Amino acid sequence: MMSSRSFRQGLVGELRAQGRLTDPAWRAAVEAVPRELFLDDAVFRPDGTQWDPIRREQFDDEDWLRLVYSDTTWVTQIDGMNAAEATGPLSGRPTSSSTLPSLVMRMVELAGIGDGDKVLEIGTGTGYSTAMLCHRLGDQLVYSVECDKELAATAAQHLHAAGRRPASVVGDGLRGHQDGADYDAVIATCAVRSIPPSWLWQLKDGGSITTTISGWMLASGLIRLALDEEGVARGRFAGDRVTYMLARPHERPPRPTFYQHPGTTRATRVNPDMLEGWTARFVAQLGAPSAELTRSGDGVALVDVATGSQAWTEPDGGGWAVHQDGPLRLWDQVEDALMTWQEQDAPDQTAFGMTVTEWDQIVWLGDTDGPRWRLPL
Ligand SMILES: C[S@@+](CC[C@H](N)C(=O)[O-])C[C@H]1O[C@@H](n2cnc3c(N)ncnc32)[C@H](O)[C@@H]1O
Repeated sequence: MMSSRSFRQGLVGELRAQGRLTDPAWRAAVEAVPRELFLDDAVFRPDGTQWDPIRREQFDDEDWLRLVYSDTTWVTQIDGMNAAEATGPLSGRPTSSSTLPSLVMRMVELAGIGDGDKVLEIGTGTGYSTAMLCHRLGDQLVYSVECDKELAATAAQHLHAAGRRPASVVGDGLRGHQDGADYDAVIATCAVRSIPPSWLWQLKDGGSITTTISGWMLASGLIRLALDEEGVARGRFAGDRVTYMLARPHERPPRPTFYQHPGTTRATRVNPDMLEGWTARFVAQLGAPSAELTRSGDGVALVDVATGSQAWTEPDGGGWAVHQDGPLRLWDQVEDALMTWQEQDAPDQTAFGMTVTEWDQIVWLGDTDGPRWRLPL
């Protein structure tokens, strides 16, 4: 039977083949951290629109390890229900997981974390990525915040079982963790709609924030921001197509059943199918940050829960019609952003960057003088 160590070595080989793990110290971390300790005995597997709990007892030892060491995100909690407690398939939103190892490594490599760095991790989850940081930096330089008390306690047990004792903090990571400040790096394993100011305040000059910027259309952009002496953080989006679950305080509000209102109608200037594209959806979200995006018949619907504004599209002749209702013209906002992007030849996410001050957060296209969108604070 293949041992856990052989599976870890296999994973290292897989990640190296992807061009990851160029730093031997991170390689050693992947080889050393036993992921099985962090997954307990059950995880959720996606099954259509549902999540199926699968348990260790359903597998022989080697097959379980094969599953554990696949380069996959294993969801461990759906809407607060842990996989070990689930008695059948669940529908709902993932609320915790063990991030796929290649993404854990991509984040730390993008962050440029190295010897002697003090790191604040937001979103301990299972503790797997925390253990990697501990292996690389030593326990005393790692602070990890988890908002779910029960998950934080379980992660601390996992970390102890792996011989690790970082500062495990229970709380809202959007406030950072003042007691450990100043940090060389903040790294978030949950996504945010904009950068929490406390992350800036708790960073050393020259320190970095590595996170995904997401929003209510669930469009995502990975970025590393560096803080200068004036307290301004800047960076360009990396372009990776990766997503994390939104930080809980940044989650979408519950959306009531959607009923189409006729509103005012006109022909669209862009094809709503464009919103299937990774960068197009990111741009649409910049244009209408308060809107959620869903399918509506053959078209799409945008809904702003706070104001009750809505827009929905439907095929019309050879093109598309849009109906808009409520105080916000959500489709106009989306369309304006998309057309601005198209006028610049519709580049990928690496053409976008971000500037963050205490008062303002701007995503720009091209350079800081280019088209710009303000993030919701
Ligand atoms: C993708 S999981 C973390 C994966 C984890 N790093 C691992 O490798 O196991 C995201 C975690 O962020 C946590 N989270 C969400 N919002 C948070 C917040 N405001 N503060 C702290 N943790 C938060 C969730 O409870 C969840 O456990």
